[in-house]
Amino acid sequence: MADFQFSDARLAALYDAFSPWDGRGDFGFYLPMVMSARAVLDVGCGTGALLHAARQAGHAGRLCGLDPAPGMLAQARRRTDIEWVQGDLASAAWPPEFDLIIMTGHAFQVLVTDGELQASLTAARSALTAGGRFVFETRNPLARAWQRWTPQHAVRVPDASGAMIQMAHEVRAVSDGVLAGDGTVSFVTTYTSPAWDRPQVSHSTLRFLGPGPLARFLAAAGLAVEQQFGDWGRQPLSATSPEIITIARRA
Ligand SMILES: C[S@@+](CC[C@H](N)C(=O)[O-])C[C@H]1O[C@@H](n2cnc3c(N)ncnc32)[C@H](O)[C@@H]1O
Repeated sequence: MADFQFSDARLAALYDAFSPWDGRGDFGFYLPMVMSARAVLDVGCGTGALLHAARQAGHAGRLCGLDPAPGMLAQARRRTDIEWVQGDLASAAWPPEFDLIIMTGHAFQVLVTDGELQASLTAARSALTAGGRFVFETRNPLARAWQRWTPQHAVRVPDASGAMIQMAHEVRAVSDGVLAGDGTVSFVTTYTSPAWDRPQVSHSTLRFLGPGPLARFLAAAGLAVEQQFGDWGRQPLSATSPEIITIARRA
């Protein structure tokens, strides 16, 4: 994924405004797991909002956030009582010391190539303790979320100075395999503001895996699906569920 929007400090500073805690159901799912784990690795931690909340709520153990984007990590580092590591999972080499590894905010979908997926899942397995869990979600391809990624669904938020910033997505390509359970969606995100000279544009590609291909990638990395849910209310996964939320363990 071209992650210009995450590397750019100005846009990273707006990330939490575009994805506010009360507008997302996932943190209510992940936070109790984080609170009950001894050592947690948040892969693609972004601005670190979830780990910030865990420490704020009294988590006394190890909290570690990993992200390749300096702009996002600059936001995360506002809290200094958490470990922040710049990098990606594929090139990380942690020994088995985390009893929970999470990827939230659909960060899993930025792993686009087979090689990135295989290397990242293998690294996650290696970093898990024997009874540890790897928990993440990916959008169900059959729910076709990208059909709502249109300029008509643009979102506007104020920045710290009060200037309005608009974020609009436009899909450029949907690969043939997506509805069969393995493909990619490429899109452009345009940020505009009356306070800026010109728009900022980022090009992104996300991979969409259905349950079958996902289970095969996990198995190849020595991970087994323990539980899956279709939404943040823990409904069972169905053909039209919006999410594929997976709790995996070492096989
Ligand atoms: C959509 S954001 C999600 C951020 C955060 N987890 C959340 O829930 O809001 C995706 C994050 O994945 C990070 N990322 C991109 N490529 C990555 C990789 N190969 N490994 C780990 N993280 C990556 C990006 O920098 C970005 O911060």
